[in-house]
Amino acid sequence: MQYLHFANGDRMPDLGLGTWKSKPGEVEEAVYTAIKTGYRHIDCAAIYGNEAEVGQGLKKAFEEGLVLRENIWITSKLWNNAHQREHVQPAFRKTLQDLQLDYLDLYLIHWPIAQRPGSRSVRSAADYFTLQEVPLLETWGAMEALRDEGLTLHVGVSNFNIPKLQHLIDEGNSSPEVNQVEMHPYLAQDDLLGYCKTNGIHLTAYSPLGSRDRTEAMKKANEPNMMENPVVVDIAKGKGCTPAQVLLAFHVSRGVSVIPKSVNPERIAQNLAAADIQLDDTDMNQLTKLNKGYRYVDGSFWEVEGGPYTTDWLWNQ
Ligand code: A2P
Repeated sequence: MQYLHFANGDRMPDLGLGTWKSKPGEVEEAVYTAIKTGYRHIDCAAIYGNEAEVGQGLKKAFEEGLVLRENIWITSKLWNNAHQREHVQPAFRKTLQDLQLDYLDLYLIHWPIAQRPGSRSVRSAADYFTLQEVPLLETWGAMEALRDEGLTLHVGVSNFNIPKLQHLIDEGNSSPEVNQVEMHPYLAQDDLLGYCKTNGIHLTAYSPLGSRDRTEAMKKANEPNMMENPVVVDIAKGKGCTPAQVLLAFHVSRGVSVIPKSVNPERIAQNLAAADIQLDDTDMNQLTKLNKGYRYVDGSFWEVEGGPYTTDWLWNQ
């Protein structure tokens, strides 16, 4: 297992367990199994609606002495409806309570999008705040305060592009330590990777396998399946591993952490083993050539009639 290192000496294992789409009834066992298998990094979020069950899995693992709290990295994320300064800490505390923890390793702003309190999903423009009403800097300042108080050891963002990261770097008290984004060979994000490396921001790749278990409402017709891509399949055959493992090893080779979701014990183990698969320059060149800027999670679900947020703004402005 490799690690991403932080200025204060902390280190985040580069392969973690994703919990988006893991259902209550499945996720407690998945978290427990993952820890038993050797995972030391669990990625969570309030909006996944399963943090209480994740907390049960963590509790069981701690009680059985599988791992000490200080030896596992736990990330969670602030939902869009708690971006106002006074709502950040209460939302954070709810997550801590659900996870049955007394601190987080990393807390992220989930999206650069502000919804009104109480609105979980968005039905109309009235569910949003504009960024003039609740600026990203206001939310970022409250995140920094959580870190200053020692409630979370590190803070960062998710789904931020370069201009939005630069805005926080220029105007905030500190730079985000991590940016979690969709990333895989079809969305290699070379510019963002280069920018983050230059600015000392770690990247975490979500949807590394294409998140094929999203609800139909979140899917487009005829989405490509990366695990069936001939280049990926060929590299896997050559290495004696699975296509999924190739897709995960891609990030490890690039110094990016990656959080595949699984609730299946064999796939949980298979995914962790991918962290030790070495891809050579030829493999990486071939995989990098697959880039086509394709987003599975394209953010179009934030676009509503008369609303302040568009996909163009999200990814390009
Ligand atoms: P399952 O939970 O039944 O294992 P992503 O991490 O991109 O969101 O993808 C998650 C999806 O990929 C889930 O449907 C998950 O199913 C599946 N998955 C996870 N690991 C593997 C693997 N090693 N091989 C094939 N499918 C996998």
